[in-house]
Amino acid sequence: MNIILLGPPGAGKGTQAAKIVEKYGVPHISTGDIFRENIKNGTELGKKAKSYMDKGELVPDELVIEIATDRLAKDDCKNGFMLDGFPRTVHQAEKLDQFLKANGRKIEYVLDIAVEKSELVARITGRRVCKACGASYHIVNIPPKKEGVCDACGGELFQRADDTEETVANRIDVYESQTMPLIDYYEKQGVISHIDGSAGLDNVFAKITEVLG
Ligand code: AP5
Ligand code: MG
Repeated sequence: MNIILLGPPGAGKGTQAAKIVEKYGVPHISTGDIFRENIKNGTELGKKAKSYMDKGELVPDELVIEIATDRLAKDDCKNGFMLDGFPRTVHQAEKLDQFLKANGRKIEYVLDIAVEKSELVARITGRRVCKACGASYHIVNIPPKKEGVCDACGGELFQRADDTEETVANRIDVYESQTMPLIDYYEKQGVISHIDGSAGLDNVFAKITEVLG
């Protein structure tokens, strides 16, 4: 099962990814999470990525492609994987296809999760993430039982550095200009399914399981 989660910032890619991992057991590969981990650890890669992420710009293709393909070359991806936030440009998608083809693999499902712009801003500015386990909440839609504390592990909840109103607007613009062309790209390959991401969490997941079986 080789899956790509496509969709604008705040569409629910990370939220649905957690549920897909639980049901299907595929490794979850989020390039955004990899960059944030590197920023936390103060690596060279983290320093480079941070300047772009803080502005809501895309990290340059050369950096991202290498990271993603290195990760996909690991043993746990042999029987399937789920990419979240990669590819994000047509160039990244072409490089991914080349890499998979050279390894006798291909993308089987692209789940295009769509949500209205106004809703995206509300979702992102209200998001809170667990520092310890990465679980994602929303102060109104999906609140934790105790404010500021993760239900799953008791960790502290925080707001992502790029979840400000100004950065979000740019992230959505960048999505529309640089990432949306991928919808057409995968439409042509006949692998894309369009999912209404505005329905509740469980309804969105039910649609996804209809596609994945
Ligand atoms: P990345 O980390 O990938 O962020 P993103 O694409 O902007 O998406 P988000 O993580 O913000 O949203 P999501 O769809 O995961 O939503 P979530 O499930 O959390 O990338 C960050 C940055 O890294 C980029 O800007 C770029 O700089 C860089 N980068 C990463 N990959 C790159 C690449 N390939 N190339 C170049 N640069 C790259 O949900 C959002 C909120 O909504 C949460 O609060 C959640 O609780 C709530 N919610 C979720 N589902 C529902 C629902 N059904 N109903 C109500 N609320 C919901
Ligand atoms: Mg995410």
